[in-house]
Amino acid sequence: MISQDELHVLSYYRACELAGAVLFGKLALHTDHDEYRVPLTRHALEEAQHAWEWTATITALGCRPVKVTRTYQSEYGKRLGLPRDIIEVFCLTQVFEKRSVAHYRRHLELAGVHPLVRKALEKLIDDEAYHLDWIRKELDQYAGNGRAAEVDDTMRRFQLMDEAVYSDIIQTSPFVEYFGGRP
Ligand SMILES: [Fe+2]
Ligand SMILES: [Fe+2]
Repeated sequence: MISQDELHVLSYYRACELAGAVLFGKLALHTDHDEYRVPLTRHALEEAQHAWEWTATITALGCRPVKVTRTYQSEYGKRLGLPRDIIEVFCLTQVFEKRSVAHYRRHLELAGVHPLVRKALEKLIDDEAYHLDWIRKELDQYAGNGRAAEVDDTMRRFQLMDEAVYSDIIQTSPFVEYFGGRP
């Protein structure tokens, strides 16, 4: 029902959501910020649900997810190493979630998207709005407490990195075939 390229694209989405769940699970486990333990755990749960959404969609299309090891997060990690503090974690997540939503919207605009894929994309776009929102509020609080320059600078640095990572990925298989290689 779907092409090999499409199967790889959907498997990539699944892997990225799963990598997000693992990352947030680790953050929820290790954070010293008592006030973030609950929202970080919820965030981990929802990213795991997103990974399941793609897994179930791929299965419903009669396929099995393929192994993907190079994810958006692993590319960020190569350029950045581990985030140094909670502001870096939040900025990174903000940049990443914005990218995910923009990319999922781009996928929705392609011709001939299967209804099941369309449904998954629409659901995930909605869910990411909550993730963007709670993290935006926390960043605004840090900014309001005298750390505005640090938040702005970190966001700018990460946005530049995100553009570089995205333009690399979109020009690599299977994205180049599926999305035409335009950054
Ligand atoms: Fe997600
Ligand atoms: Fe998210």
